[in-house]
Amino acid sequence: MSATTSLVDELEQLERSAATELRSSDDAEALEAWRVRYLARSGALAALLRGLGGLSPEDRPKAGAVANRVKNTLEAAFEERASALKSAARTRALESERIDVTLPARGIRLGHLHPITRIRREIERVFLRLGFSVVEGPEIEWDHYNFTLLNMPPNHPARDMQDTYYIANVEADGPAGGRNDVLLRTHTSPVQIRTMLSQKPPIRVVVPGKVFRNEATDAAHESMFTQIEGLCVDEHTTMADLRGCLTLMIRTLFGEKSEIRFRCGYFPFVEPGAEFDMSCHVCGGSGCKTCKNTGWIEIGGCGMVHPIVLGNCGLDPARYTGWAFGFGFERMALLKYDVDDIRLFYGNDLRFIRQLS
Ligand code: FA5
Repeated sequence: MSATTSLVDELEQLERSAATELRSSDDAEALEAWRVRYLARSGALAALLRGLGGLSPEDRPKAGAVANRVKNTLEAAFEERASALKSAARTRALESERIDVTLPARGIRLGHLHPITRIRREIERVFLRLGFSVVEGPEIEWDHYNFTLLNMPPNHPARDMQDTYYIANVEADGPAGGRNDVLLRTHTSPVQIRTMLSQKPPIRVVVPGKVFRNEATDAAHESMFTQIEGLCVDEHTTMADLRGCLTLMIRTLFGEKSEIRFRCGYFPFVEPGAEFDMSCHVCGGSGCKTCKNTGWIEIGGCGMVHPIVLGNCGLDPARYTGWAFGFGFERMALLKYDVDDIRLFYGNDLRFIRQLS
């Protein structure tokens, strides 16, 4: 067999096997491997073409023509296969990403109120129905209002009952008439003072708002929480009115069977002072885990406004009496929504908040 015939055979054999392999190259990676194997400079076709140089000048054109045809055929087959694979991939992508425009649109999730806001509004509604107004006061407060006029002058030991964030000590035209500490209010009671200084009795207000205490947080304590203060000042109002209002509030929130009880408690701005509890809404008073088997749950503080406090606000204690109460919304929300850690309310975890929507 002549060298020409042998080279032509080899070229044709290469053409056949390359064509067979090309048909089974069905992704971009296999196609590239095929190209490197056959068409690249170091590939099988280039190796055969180098053999052309060893042929005689008469034989070279015939073998050269076959070589060119094989090269062109393989290149064209490669292009065709590449474009077929590309278009198959595009079709697959289109299939998988197809948008069915007839499907119904995704629902829009509605926002809802934070559980503390809901409790606040529920309680406000009870007192609005009773003729109270809702008022607010500043979260940054004078020491004079937060403590002194509430019958806790400087160095009074009861100031230590509320760990205070002091902000500054300023010389200003403040209510103390000289230097006075500025602080984050530790309770909503300073708004009692602001109200009595600015309104004449009869006074009936509730004061919801944030308060701040410099204390370690745990499942029952936050350093920022929300209180509501109630204040009523009139000529003949008594502790029985206080009890009636608190009972109505508790019954609205926890059901008709709920009861209120007073226990002696000390707050320098009320006399007599009391802590008030509600009957346990889980066991009805017979004793369970929620009420630690006492039948009662502690809610807040209350009492008759101290005559010194009335006097501090320019009201005659011989003519007027008043009562006040204060408690935290968060502890109330723990009970109402059966939550066991106060920190969840401000943890910014929407999954928790959504459960209570
Ligand atoms: C007071 O703050 C009084 N100003 C309440 C008052 C008003 C008494 C009017 C008399 C007349 P006390 O420090 O106990 O009281 O707080 C009242 C309520 O706030 C508590 O019963 C509790 O519900 C809530 N509370 C107190 N500390 C925290 C805290 N760290 N985290 C969450 N809630 C708290």
